[in-house]
Amino acid sequence: MTATVRPRLTVLGAGYLGVSHAACLAELGFDVLAVDTDAARIGTLSAGDLPFFEPGLQPLVRRGLDSGRLRFTGSYTEAASFGDVHFVCVGTPQRTDSDYADLSQLNGCIAALGPLLESPCLVVGKSTVPVGTTAALAHKLARLAPVGQAAELAWNPEFLREGCAIEDTLRPDRIVVGVQSRRAEAILRQIYAAPLSVGTQFFVTDVATAELAKVAANSFLATKISFINAMSEVCESTGGDVAVLSEILGADPRIGVAFLRPGLGFGGGCLPKDIRAFVASAAQLGVEGALAFLREVDTINVNCRTRMVGLTRELAGGSLSGRAVGVLGVAFKPNSDDIRDSPALEVAKTIHDLGALVTVYDPIAMNRARQIHPELEYAGSAVGAASDADVLLLLTEWREFCEADPDVLGKAVAQRKIADGRHALDPDVWRRAGWDYRALGRPLPPIRDPVQSESAGQLSRPDTTSAKAHDYPLSSAKFYRKPCHEPSPDVESDCSWL
Ligand code: UDX
Repeated sequence: MTATVRPRLTVLGAGYLGVSHAACLAELGFDVLAVDTDAARIGTLSAGDLPFFEPGLQPLVRRGLDSGRLRFTGSYTEAASFGDVHFVCVGTPQRTDSDYADLSQLNGCIAALGPLLESPCLVVGKSTVPVGTTAALAHKLARLAPVGQAAELAWNPEFLREGCAIEDTLRPDRIVVGVQSRRAEAILRQIYAAPLSVGTQFFVTDVATAELAKVAANSFLATKISFINAMSEVCESTGGDVAVLSEILGADPRIGVAFLRPGLGFGGGCLPKDIRAFVASAAQLGVEGALAFLREVDTINVNCRTRMVGLTRELAGGSLSGRAVGVLGVAFKPNSDDIRDSPALEVAKTIHDLGALVTVYDPIAMNRARQIHPELEYAGSAVGAASDADVLLLLTEWREFCEADPDVLGKAVAQRKIADGRHALDPDVWRRAGWDYRALGRPLPPIRDPVQSESAGQLSRPDTTSAKAHDYPLSSAKFYRKPCHEPSPDVESDCSWL
């Protein structure tokens, strides 16, 4: 193969990452064959349907199928003979018995592909892996492949966010390629010619740096979130307002506003497991001390969920037993049906276990949640979840919740008490509508009316500081969220206005 001929591409692993990558590459004009060992999944995708939710992806898959540039198969043999470049997009979840990354899918993929590689090719890992994985796999690949060293391995970590996968793939912030030859670099430059032509930064590195780029980025993002959530705890014990604090910190360009939104903390299939795997590998890497802080990042994050349960209990009058709690949102973030390590779902489940009658509504993620937690009640709308609730919780900031009318929901609930787990609502608006509005790290309102003074009395902290919120020109809840520029045809857009 030469870099002047347009390479034929395979994508190994038709999960969230793989399907997004395959559909976008087909959109860029490449012939792409996506492979998965799950026959049902291949059937679904070949019919133009998605086994998961991602805004705007289905039309792209259908366009790829219709044009003939995108196909799905279960056959590694077909993939090996078709592809010049093989992108490895299989999952690397957390192991069930430890914090380490489970590399079984990755090892299985190389073991299946390697013996079939009879002509020179480039295998490009995109999955998130512990540093050192590429070097080990490169030897394995060369040993297994009939073509030997001409089956070269490179690493090209993926930084896409769920809910913005297409935008992040077609117009990424940066592209990182860890390569072992000029040939590999040239091939990857050719594949990414479109984003490179509009000035996307392209980092050509050794493979260890490329592997680290992903876990280091996710560790930093997680650290920022846990930092502001640690400040939220400090605010609670001092009467400060974490929403204002976050704005002040974010106004310093050295700090920046992104990923400083306090609340329930991070979840999903990446940040939690990536920092745990990084810490787990620290001893092997001889850097146990250097990464010890990430344990605290994890602890602070998990503690947000506990604090949210505590706040709900407080709003419920001290006990959750027999209280009706409405939950808005179970996905780990809006515009996603992903409930892996979802802070929202964990809070809902814990509150149920503490005796509350929990009714959940999420625009997209409800079916997945119901499969795992059939013990929760599920409503068909936000008003349904709020119906007769003693306490209402906003746990995932879907736009329809951010824009909900406090009067409409107020008529549904038994008591106007809301805990905003995502700092997504304007406290003034909700309080004016008669709600007892609470959020982690935010002070109580000035003691003006009976509803508010009653709940203020339940807190054991100085109330001298609790009346400050209205004194600031708060642009409350306007926390930065990197916008998805791609309009989503399937759903209302995310809370990119936040
Ligand atoms: C993340 C990384 O952003 C992405 O680059 C990487 O490729 C995969 O992991 P994703 O898991 O899709 O992407 O979600 P992200 O938007 O990063 O949010 C992660 C979690 O952090 C969510 O639960 C979100 O609610 C939470 N979060 C985010 C906050 O609590 N506060 C913030 O300020 C930002």
